[in-house]
Amino acid sequence: MNDAADKALIRSALAARKRAHAPYSGFAVGAAIRVSGGKTVCGCNVENASYGLTVCAERVAAFKAVSRGFDSFRALAVAVPGDEPMPPCGACLQVLAEFCGKDIPIIMVAAGSPGRPVRTCLRKLLPHAFSMHERRGASRC
Ligand code: THU
Repeated sequence: MNDAADKALIRSALAARKRAHAPYSGFAVGAAIRVSGGKTVCGCNVENASYGLTVCAERVAAFKAVSRGFDSFRALAVAVPGDEPMPPCGACLQVLAEFCGKDIPIIMVAAGSPGRPVRTCLRKLLPHAFSMHERRGASRC
C-alpha cells in the first residue's frame, strides 16, 4: 500500500468517528478497511445501554464489508480519541484474521495527533490467531 492510500484510509477512519454512538464511554472510535479491489468500508463503535452488547468500530467495519460481498481485506486504519494511537482489541483482531493474511497493515492513528500514525501488522498484534486451517501449538513464554 502506498503513502497516498494510507493517508486516504486514515482520513476515512477519522471521519468514521463522527458517527460513533458512544454515550457511555465517550470514546469515539472509527475504522476503515480497504478491501480487495480498492473500495473502503468504514465503521464506528456502537454502544448499548446493556454495556456488553457494544460492538467495536473495527468489527462493525468488518461485518459491513463481508455483508456487502467483500471478504478479502487489504488494510485497516483505526482512529481513537486523544493523542496516542491504540491497537484494535483482541476480539477485533481475531475477527480481522478471518478475512486477511497476517501481514495486513494496521494503521493506528489518534484524533489529537493525526499526522503521527503508527503502522504495524496483524502478525505483530495477534501472533496466534485461532484458525481452523492452521493447527499448531502456541509457543511457550
Ligand atoms: N472500542 C473500539 O471501537 N475498538 C477497539 O478496538 C476497542 C474499544 C470501543 C468500544 C467502546 O465503545 C469504547 O471503545 C470503549 O471501550
